[in-house]
Order: sequence, then structure tokens, then C-alpha cells
Amino acid sequence: MAKKKITIIGAGHVGATTAQLLAYKKLAHIHLVDVVEGLPQGKALDLMESAPLEDFDSQVTGSNKYEDTADSDIVIMTAGLARKPGMTREDLRDKNASIVKSCCAEVAKYSPNCFMIVVTNPLDTMTWIAKEASGLDKHRILGMAGVLDSTRFRFFIANELGVSNEDVHATVLGLHGEDMVPMPRFSSVAGIPITELLPKEKIDELVDRTRKGGGEIVTLLKTGSAFYAPAASIVNMVESIVLEKNRIIPAAAYLEGEYGIDGLFMGVPVKLNWSGIADIIELPLTDEESEALKKSAEAVKKSMSQLKI
Ligand code: NAI
Ligand code: 2OP
Repeated sequence: MAKKKITIIGAGHVGATTAQLLAYKKLAHIHLVDVVEGLPQGKALDLMESAPLEDFDSQVTGSNKYEDTADSDIVIMTAGLARKPGMTREDLRDKNASIVKSCCAEVAKYSPNCFMIVVTNPLDTMTWIAKEASGLDKHRILGMAGVLDSTRFRFFIANELGVSNEDVHATVLGLHGEDMVPMPRFSSVAGIPITELLPKEKIDELVDRTRKGGGEIVTLLKTGSAFYAPAASIVNMVESIVLEKNRIIPAAAYLEGEYGIDGLFMGVPVKLNWSGIADIIELPLTDEESEALKKSAEAVKKSMSQLKI
């Protein structure tokens, strides 16, 4: 099978780490783009110089020109500012909106049929901006956050119970922010719901830590936000697409009535394969879970309505 072409916009922490993981997994040829001259070229060359040791034959290239992104199969949008301590994701909104808007318009000129994964924060609002600016069909654009939020929840559960991460599954729906909706009823260890394994107070503690997971890393790093787990989460989505896995994963999808929500992107379980989003799965929710998801949607709507671009 011919290798796919994946373009990553933004060669910063998340973009470059994603390129490294994709190259080492031999999943595609990779092109990095950034506004800073020399940065994508330098990181691409550095990565290529590890090819003889890591035994990959994908090409990793970098440039400051969108012409070089032509005919990309997948585009990963990471360009923009990252949080510093004391900032919420919403504080990045207007600056990142204008960056995402201009980058996505350029991407669409050269790869009108690509599949796009948006990462820039605030995630759900930026994915909407990206859809508007690129004109991509709703089945060809997703925001990455659900995989990250649920991998954090998985890790906290595995750590608490002293079991392998491999046996833990977790679901987190809703927006990427403190109003996200971790779902203990749909989170399990070797098929056993965590509600059978942990007391409510402990589950509440892990849910709260998951909601604040991004902020916990920002507080520790002081100069930026998480990038190892985010990059691994992006690659997990790319694998499902490129390898046609039909995985069911939580991601920000464009909703038109699903879960009673309309006209915005938010985290829901999707079935993902080469054609894009093959399906949105509607989980049977309790009234309380449904209310939490609606609250999340209201926060996304508020963010969209306050955009100044
Ligand atoms: P970073 O600051 O390390 O990298 C961002 C890169 O974007 C920089 O190299 C910068 O030069 C570039 N850039 C800025 N304007 C550009 C433009 N107009 N065109 C091309 N490149 C441009 O930041 P990092 O840590 O890589 O984070 C990137 C974004 O991803 C942030 O908005 C962050 O909040 C978000 N993020 C989202 C996650 C999620 O779960 N959705 C997880 C982690 C980060
Ligand atoms: C996170 O959750 C920065 O949104 C990113 O780590």
C-alpha cells in the first residue's frame, strides 16, 4: 500500500512530537508547516537523521509554504498559542481563531479532499472555525480531545486500582474543558464497570482530576501545555483512519441533532475509518448525564457566540 501523506500545521511541541511518533510507526510521509522560518525544516531534518537508527523510510519534510502540502490525505492542525499558568483554553480563543481560519483556508486550496484533525484550543470552537474556513464535509473533520481526556481517565483508574492500563477503558464526552463529561458508567476494567470497583467518592476524585488534567500539566510545566499524551492521542486517531480500523473513539464531531444538540462540534463516540466519520454512536444516557452534556454544549455555544473574528 502506498504511504499516505500527512501534513502537520504547527511544528511546535504537539506538532513535532506527532511527526516523530508517526514516522517511528511508519504510518505515512509527513510534511511540517510553521510560520517560523527554519523551524519545520530543522525539525524535519533532525527527525530524518534518526531514520537510520529508528529504521523508517517515510519522508519527513518541512517548509513555510502551503504549496508543499498539496494532496495531503490527512491534515493535523496544531498551529496557535498554548496555555500558560493562570490561562484557560478560552483565553486563547480569538488569537487562535484567526490563526486557524487563515491556515485552514490555505490547506483547503491544496488539499480539498483531505481528512482534518483539529487540535488547537479551545478545541470545540476551533474545529468549527476550521470547518467553516476549509469548507470540508462534516464527515471529514474532527477535533482531538476525547482520546486525550479518556486516556487520562484510563491512566488515573489503572493507577488507583493497580491494574494494567491495557485492561482499562474509559469514555469522556462533551467539550474539552472543565465542563467535559467523564462517564463512569461507560468506563470499565476488563469489562467490569468501575462503579462496581471503586467507591463513589474515589470515582468523583478521579473524574475531577480528569477534568482538570490539562491544567495540572500546565501548572507543572509553567511554559506551555501537555504534548506527549496529546501527540499519542492524535496518532491513535490517525491509525484508525489509515489502517481502516473502524475504532469507536470519542472525538469532537459536528452534531446535527444527535444527543439533542445541533450546529456545533463536541466530543461524542464516533466510528472512524478511511472514509472518515462512518457513524456517531448515541449512548443511552441517564437524565443526569444528559443534563451534563447539555451544559457542555451550552459552554461551546457561548464560546462560539463570543468569537471576535
Ligand atoms: P507550541 O507553541 O509549542 O506550537 C505551536 C506552533 O504553532 C508554534 O511553532 C508556532 O510558531 C506555530 N504557529 C503559530 N501561528 C502559526 C501560523 N499562522 N501558521 C503556522 N504555524 C503557526 O504549542 P503546542 O504545545 O504545540 O500546542 C499547540 C496548540 O494545541 C495549542 O493551541 C494548544 O492549546 C493545543 N493543544 C490541544 C490539545 C487538545 O487536546 N486538543 C492538547 C495539547 C495542545
Ligand atoms: C490539554 O488538555 C492543552 O488542552 C490541552 O492538555
